[in-house]
Amino acid sequence: MILKGISLSSLPSSFLSDAHRETVAETLMLMALCVTQVLALDFSNAKWIWTNENGGGVNKPPGSRAFRREYFPSPGKFALSANVLITTDNGYTLYLNGQQIGTGHNWPIAQTYCVPLSPFYNVFAVNATNDLTVPNPAGLLAAIEFKYTDGSVGKVVTDTTWRVTTNVPAGFQQIFFNDAAWPAATIQANYEGSNWGPISIPSSSASPPLSLTDANWIWTNEVNGGSAPIGTRAFRKTITLPAGQRATSATIYMAADDAFTLYVQGKIVGSGSYFQSNKYVVDILPHSRQVTIAAFTDNAGGPAGLIAVVDLTMEDRGCGSQVVSFVSDGSWKYNLGTPAGFQLGGYNDSAWPTAFVEGKYGMPPWGSIAIPANVSAPSGPIAGAPSA
Ligand SMILES: *[C@@H]1O[C@H](CO)[C@@H](O)[C@H](O)[C@H]1NC(C)=O
Ligand SMILES: *[C@@H]1O[C@H](CO)[C@@H](O)[C@H](O)[C@H]1NC(C)=O
Ligand SMILES: *[C@@H]1O[C@H](CO)[C@@H](O)[C@H](O)[C@H]1NC(C)=O
Repeated sequence: MILKGISLSSLPSSFLSDAHRETVAETLMLMALCVTQVLALDFSNAKWIWTNENGGGVNKPPGSRAFRREYFPSPGKFALSANVLITTDNGYTLYLNGQQIGTGHNWPIAQTYCVPLSPFYNVFAVNATNDLTVPNPAGLLAAIEFKYTDGSVGKVVTDTTWRVTTNVPAGFQQIFFNDAAWPAATIQANYEGSNWGPISIPSSSASPPLSLTDANWIWTNEVNGGSAPIGTRAFRKTITLPAGQRATSATIYMAADDAFTLYVQGKIVGSGSYFQSNKYVVDILPHSRQVTIAAFTDNAGGPAGLIAVVDLTMEDRGCGSQVVSFVSDGSWKYNLGTPAGFQLGGYNDSAWPTAFVEGKYGMPPWGSIAIPANVSAPSGPIAGAPSA
């Protein structure tokens, strides 16, 4: 864990990571390309596809079917990344070049994935499953937006250019699997006006950036008439990002009455006291889909509270860098003690209760506490807190 004691100004915090410093110029170029080419991906012109079973009729036998779509960029172009929008009635496992990208099993709501591509040749493969025990409608629907190194974009949708087979052969997702004998997919319906209706499209995994002013003061269930017992307590929040996304860094604002020590991925980040909020920027190394925030807190008497906002910066894989924000709320967990190892990522907090929400930022007795512009100086653990 590396603490950065420098001003962030307007740069995304991931740019401050040592690991990224040498690729800053490259990344800036990539971002410039993305900024000029932001298109809203949707299912327009995509088809619901499946096999030709049941004479091409709408009701298909239950079971899994394998689909493949090869993709060669136009001559002179080099593929950079793909933004994939996909859903399946009833479920899918999506692969790119043999690697699993994600799964879904709720067809009314599509899922998106941003994936890096090989420059010359890529194969998308889907193991799609029709549920139930009797024939019923089945369909795979996808739109894939390709980005190239020259900044241009292209789009592929599900249609008869996809191949399908009525079983799921071992290794079907591998790049060089021979699908030459597979027939073309059968169109079940156009996306527009089909019986499946409009599909919900997630706007983006990025949420509007939140600030400490959006956060809640939380504590344990011991709060009574605004006061809580003297003593130390543990809090945890585990953030699991959508498949295909990994956080590169976290910017965290945290304050506590009376004091806290903050841990990210099990490592100490810093401490603060007397409900003054501190700001920290930490690299998430290795880049991770799961981020564990833990706080060792101490109440010296009277009111007790913990408040925080966590902004995670995602890996930029050509779909634009994104920040996802989380605030302290009733999804955080607490323990009435501070069990050994509670700050570690692998600690099992499933039996911990969820936090008691005292109220929003601005509430008495803390009021509108100052939000620092600059990163706080590194500091060691408060009394009793682990130093790991
Ligand atoms: C295809 O998906 C089904 C349903 O999830 C699963 O049971 C089956 O093992 C998968 N087949 C392959 C080859 O991955
Ligand atoms: C976590 O603890 C709960 C009980 O507190 C237990 O049921 C569960 O199996 C544990 N999970 C793991 C992964 O150890
Ligand atoms: C914040 O950092 C900037 C740039 O390093 C510095 O000029 C400024 O004095 C700092 N502000 C505070 C309150 O420390």
